[in-house]
Amino acid sequence: MLNLSTTYANLNLKTPIIVGSAGITGSIELLQRAEECGAGAVVTKSLFQKEISRKSPTPRFKIVKHTNTFTFYTYEQASELNPQEYAEFIFNAKQKLSIPVIASINCYTDDAWIEYSKLMEEAGADAIELNLSCPHGVHIMSGMNIIEEMVHTTKIVKNNVKIPVIPKMTPQSANPGSDALRLEQAGADGLVMFNRFTGLDIDIEKEIPILHGGYAGHGGPWAIMYGLRWISAVSPKLKCSISASGGVMNGEDAIKYILSGASAVQIVTTVFLNGYEVIKQINKYLEQYLDRKGYRTINDFKGKVCDKILDMESVDRRHWGVASINKDKCIGCGKCFNVCIYDAIKNDKEKFMIKENCDGCGLCIEVCPVNAISMVEKERN
Ligand SMILES: Cc1cc2nc3c(=O)[nH]c(=O)nc-3n(C[C@H](O)[C@H](O)[C@H](O)COP(=O)(O)O)c2cc1C
Repeated sequence: MLNLSTTYANLNLKTPIIVGSAGITGSIELLQRAEECGAGAVVTKSLFQKEISRKSPTPRFKIVKHTNTFTFYTYEQASELNPQEYAEFIFNAKQKLSIPVIASINCYTDDAWIEYSKLMEEAGADAIELNLSCPHGVHIMSGMNIIEEMVHTTKIVKNNVKIPVIPKMTPQSANPGSDALRLEQAGADGLVMFNRFTGLDIDIEKEIPILHGGYAGHGGPWAIMYGLRWISAVSPKLKCSISASGGVMNGEDAIKYILSGASAVQIVTTVFLNGYEVIKQINKYLEQYLDRKGYRTINDFKGKVCDKILDMESVDRRHWGVASINKDKCIGCGKCFNVCIYDAIKNDKEKFMIKENCDGCGLCIEVCPVNAISMVEKERN
């Protein structure tokens, strides 16, 4: 029988797919929808100590299109609830849901961290996610030393509650690898890698920042490679488990994160844009992957890519191949000719040919719109 269950931060999840903290986890009804569609756990929309953050501006979403990808650029602020109301929300969520409910909080004083964490524990939260990394939160925006703050906070919260404590890391750090190790030493039971970056986009006609007029959180499908890079580097060194967060749009993305060593995978942008049904699709894709690969559990392939990542010394640097153009397929568009910095493509009245000096860089293959170019071994050209 296929089994998608996983253990994350000492919690047993029936699937690794967690709906991450955002407006999509801001009410009991939405949490229930996530559970009905098959989420393994939910992280509730963050409670902020900073009261001004409890009110979001209108509008607060912008989809900024780039070539072949997009940025989900948003200024959705904290939960509108105060700490008491939030504790009630967590209590009610626990009555209605059978999956783990992880409470997300963001404070800037030690007293509040302790008070809010205890409140969440008493309300029945299964774990606490520490959201110091909010891209428009007080820690990032005031330029605090975020890793020192996170280590300090992890220690004090850990000393005051018994439920698992999970710092949510910022990608805006010089070395997330060493940050992760320090947070584990500070007592983290799990890590979320990562929150989003802080960005800015500009309307060049009005010469003003877009959306609400300030900096905002930006992420999107493009963010996944950053998470894969750091999770794969650090997961073999950690005892505590990792929940990936950033850029997961579908089942394939979730599998990449598990192969890089994540025990669970959070999704937010894809739920906003594709609805809660996407959880079902991702779970189904995971099951099909296990079946196709002959795996019985998530652990069978978790972290499998880590020891296949080459270091600089091990990279094969032989120039073994050159490009070859299939004349029958070539449509004479000249894109290969335009990108070749080696002057290795001959343009003979819009018939393109590879010359002797091809360096085998492979860029012409990437830009050819009709797959007319391939890499062949040097002697076969
Ligand atoms: C509109 C929006 C609101 C968010 N609000 C929160 C929040 O309150 N607390 C938090 O820890 N992360 C918040 N996040 C970050 C997400 O939980 C998640 O880490 C991030 O979006 C990356 O995942 P994704 O690429 O699947 O969207 C928010 C993200 C979005 C897009």
